[in-house]
Amino acid sequence: MASRRAAAPLTGRVNVPGDKSISHRALMFGALAVGETRITGLLEGEDVLRTAAAMRALGAEVARDADGAWRVSGRGVGGLVEPADVLDMGNSGTAARLLCGVLASHPIFAVMTGDASLRRRPMRRVIDPLSACGARFDAREGGRLPLAMRGPVEALPLDYRVPVPSAQVKSAVLLCGLNAPGITRVEEPEATRDHTENMLSHFGASVQVEASGRARIITLQGQPELRAADVTVPGDPSSAAFLAATALLVPGSRLSIASVGLNELRCGFYATLAEMGANIVVANRRVEGGEPVGDLDVSHGELRGVDVPWERAPTMIDEYPVLAVIAAHAIGTTRMRGLKELRVKESDRVAATAALLAAAGARVEVEGDDLIVHGDGPTLRGGGLVRTEMDHRIAMAALVLGVATQEPMTVDDAAFIDTSFPGFAELMNRAGAALAPA
Ligand code: S3P
Repeated sequence: MASRRAAAPLTGRVNVPGDKSISHRALMFGALAVGETRITGLLEGEDVLRTAAAMRALGAEVARDADGAWRVSGRGVGGLVEPADVLDMGNSGTAARLLCGVLASHPIFAVMTGDASLRRRPMRRVIDPLSACGARFDAREGGRLPLAMRGPVEALPLDYRVPVPSAQVKSAVLLCGLNAPGITRVEEPEATRDHTENMLSHFGASVQVEASGRARIITLQGQPELRAADVTVPGDPSSAAFLAATALLVPGSRLSIASVGLNELRCGFYATLAEMGANIVVANRRVEGGEPVGDLDVSHGELRGVDVPWERAPTMIDEYPVLAVIAAHAIGTTRMRGLKELRVKESDRVAATAALLAAAGARVEVEGDDLIVHGDGPTLRGGGLVRTEMDHRIAMAALVLGVATQEPMTVDDAAFIDTSFPGFAELMNRAGAALAPA
């Protein structure tokens, strides 16, 4: 697929698909609750569909009534059944890691795999803490998928300090704790997205969060009776980032992105854009389904380079590729610090982002775990072919770049965009971008 310089500004009002993190959790928690959970706005991307299929394989009833409208009849905490076949989590690290947590405290045998990207990603970060509950894991060299696991008859509660800022690891430990008697305790030195904590409370679990500076201690009372609960999934701020970036880069644009989730632990990208001088106004702020939501009114304007502090990384971890694309069009240098975790995403996103910018002729450097982009304003040549490395966000970042470069940008494989943002090309084109098959 290729994108070429937009001929007209982006205008009007668009909706982005549902939040990926919340969608996975809605299906999993629905499967662990007693009764029928109704979900609206579910993201129907490949990643989430893998979670839906896994929940079915584990005995939950999962039905789709209409676009984004799903029902899950759960089996209660500890009630999942042994899957008859391998669970294939596709491209999704979130699905794989959270599900390891759920299954570790079930006395069943399960085997999990994924696509070539997921089979390269580290699972030791969940295997190690989860083993302490009594679960046994057998994985490939380096703790990679496929892995086999068997939970104990009675799991022990966990007490774990998460060594890397990762909501997936934190969530895996908490989900394991659901089916262990007593208190499960997780300490995170850097707060990460808190959808698991919020949604567990919403489903009736007793969860306490103690904050001290950026650190958090989360405690969960084990073996609650989770009750079915309705979930309204907000628009995904990480998907909205690609449309916001496009509007910021195409002269004359003025785009409204409706009903975007604005959880403060997800908003580092928008805080950074404000520092760069971006013209983004949040309209119609409200709370929907327990999450803060608003409409983002984004207008094109000149941007300046900024220094993005390392401690902001957990709140914008998925947005660095597209931030780097914006930075290449800003005036001055943007330094994004402390991106170690970005190296273990669907691809090594530090390397892939640097490569995509270099392909477009941008001046970019990697120094340790910092990514440095020297912006020269809206003069970038473009014209490169980008290898997307099975990574949806690299593909989307490259295509966004192409709407503002002199020459079109081409990606070798746009198929992975469907993992998180089905309909991306159509939506971008409806808003005024120029994406087409290469
Ligand atoms: C997610 C957590 C983040 C993020 C991913 C979704 C989640 O991963 O990159 O897209 O839903 O918990 P890490 O927890 O590994 O940083």
